Amino acid sequence: MKIVTIVGTRPEIIKMAPVLAQMEKDDIDNILIHTGQHYDYEMSQQFFLDLELKKPEYNIEVGSNSHGKQTALMIEKIEDILKIEKPHIVLVQGDTNAVLAGAITASKMHIPVGHVEAGLRSYDKTMPEEINRQIADVCSAMFFVPTEESAINLLFENIDPNKIFITGNTIVDACIRHLKIAERKSNILSKLGITGDLLTLTMHRAENVDDPERLKNIVDALLDLKNITVIFPVHPRTLKNLKKFGLYNKLESVSHIKLIKPIGYLDFLLLLSKSKVVMTDSGGLQEEAITLNVPCITLRYNTERPETVTAGGNILVGAEKERILDAFNKICNDLGIYNKMKNAKNPFGDGNSSDNILKSILVAKKSDKLKISI
Ligand code: UD1
Ligand code: UDP
Repeated sequence: MKIVTIVGTRPEIIKMAPVLAQMEKDDIDNILIHTGQHYDYEMSQQFFLDLELKKPEYNIEVGSNSHGKQTALMIEKIEDILKIEKPHIVLVQGDTNAVLAGAITASKMHIPVGHVEAGLRSYDKTMPEEINRQIADVCSAMFFVPTEESAINLLFENIDPNKIFITGNTIVDACIRHLKIAERKSNILSKLGITGDLLTLTMHRAENVDDPERLKNIVDALLDLKNITVIFPVHPRTLKNLKKFGLYNKLESVSHIKLIKPIGYLDFLLLLSKSKVVMTDSGGLQEEAITLNVPCITLRYNTERPETVTAGGNILVGAEKERILDAFNKICNDLGIYNKMKNAKNPFGDGNSSDNILKSILVAKKSDKLKISI
């Protein structure tokens, strides 16, 4: 049994880490391709160290570029690698350009694609991620969905139910496994001198940070937050745009906001677990927040993770100053709301997602089902 796994960005490395670890443990022949879409030390290599991952067998070093050029280069290189490696299955995770490139390439070569975190839908096709995840699901042979809701999305798209596996989300595996290590190893709280209530903030969505007006609205809200320390590890896309739109200096000028470089997974997990509230437009953070019982304010108008909202752990506020401040004030000043959000039930499984995924693949291989999709 040979499995090729493709990753390219920070969240894919984190979310595939438990699956890669399980493959090593089960002695499965596995080859790792890094597309190199994220390449800064703090967006890539740092996670290989923190998560104790092997060096990828291949790094395509695609770097930053327009979607077309980036995806085209990945397709060309992945095809060359798959010709050499001839795996039984290719695993992709999530909704990045690596998922699009990997799924298209493997399926055209008649190699089954396993989509980890399949079935998520925002139905917002202005987001590149929605296009990527829909196309990946068209190309996939095995669908590892985190929740029943995601399975239902696929059933509505006439996907064969026998190919859908409700596995939970591998982020829960990563959180559970690494939080204990983080508590032992990370000194991020003392390093940042944090006392009192803490808000962890991340944002990087193109629709927020590439739009000067939306980014300014969010920044204006952040400047008005009271009685909290905001730790903001700034994503490179966001850093570039905050500077371009003249907003970086504003954030730097107030004492309650600390701007830092993106941090490693152990530091980030510890920070998150000690936060009173998280504010984000990240997909992974919406999942981690509910896993770690931290109320989440999401800086988006929709989410492909609606389970977090229905469970009561997440509020969508878009990019509007008043809505952001209103949500923040309610969480901080109304203990009933705070407790309700904090105690929301995690919909993403119990931390055995990677095991569930690999078991499903092994069963499919044994019963020759992997070939059906070819
Ligand atoms: C990508 C994914 C997004 C995911 C996010 C995780 C796509 C379409 N987007 O968005 O779904 O949520 O990663 O963080 O696949 N840059 C650096 N150093 C790096 C990487 C990027 O400086 O190591 C800068 C470059 O200026 C680049 C910009 O950030 O142009 C955006 O990077 P890119 O990989 O295109 O998109 P992300 O916003 O990171
Ligand atoms: N993360 C991290 N360090 C940081 C910021 C985020 O380790 O400084 C982790 C976070 O715990 C989560 C993942 O990065 O697991 C989310 O990545 P991102 O927000 O870039 O992508 P998305 O989940 O939106 O695709």
